[in-house]
This record gives sequence, structure tokens and C-alpha cells, in this order.
Amino acid sequence: MNALETAAKAARQRAYAPYSGFRVGAALETEDGTIVTGCNVENASYSLTICAERSAIATAVGLGHTRFRRLVISSEASEPISPCGSCRQTLWEFAPDLEVESITDTSRRNWSLAELLPAGFSRSDLT
Ligand code: THU
Repeated sequence: MNALETAAKAARQRAYAPYSGFRVGAALETEDGTIVTGCNVENASYSLTICAERSAIATAVGLGHTRFRRLVISSEASEPISPCGSCRQTLWEFAPDLEVESITDTSRRNWSLAELLPAGFSRSDLT
């Protein structure tokens, strides 16, 4: 397991998921090689839940990082999960060229973000 995968798995242990019991960790590699992690954070008001991927992005931006190369998502599902639509769009804002990898303890799957979000909304659409 490489450092990014190890970080995503460790972040999964910190998930706050008392309602779904579905723990997810995410690790972003920034353009300068820094690793920033996130986990899902649920709420008694269910719809306020934050996914691991958006948690990682929010933490990274708060630390001053806005350019990313790779993302690893770690879950306990039987097959690698793919990020939800909201997370795809959030990731697209910063890294349309992002490489996305999803891992379980026994398998992995890779995509490009462009493959997962073929027609993302961008700042250029606002003009
Ligand atoms: N979840 C993530 O954190 N990332 C995903 O890619 C899919 C779903 C979380 C949200 C919620 O806390 C739990 O998994 C079940 O949906």
C-alpha cells in the first residue's frame, strides 16, 4: 500500500458515522506532494452529512492548497465505491485532471475525474 492509500485508510478510522455505520476516508495529494485527509462526518439532521471527499477538500483549502493530483477513497464496502455527484463537482472546481482511486481492503479501482464527471460545471460557464 502506498502512502496516499495508507493515509486514506487511516482517515477512515476517524470517520464519524454513527447513523449509517459506513465509514469512508479520503486522502488528497496536492501538487507539491502534501497529503491531506478527510473522513465522513454525519449529523443527527441526516442531510447535513459531509462526505469524506468534501471533508478532505475543505481541510486542504483551509490549509492553503488548491491544486491536487490524486485522490484515494477508502471504504469497507465489498467493492470500491465511487464518489457521489456532489463530491465529483466539488473536486472538479479544483482539479479537473484529478486521478481518482478507490480501495477496499482487498480491491481497487481507478478513474479520471473527467470520466466520472463528463460535463462538470466550471467557472468559465459563469461568464
Ligand atoms: N460517503 C462518503 O463519505 N463518500 C462517498 O463517496 C460515498 C458516501 C458517506 C456519506 C455517509 O456518511 C455514508 O457514506 C453513507 O452514505
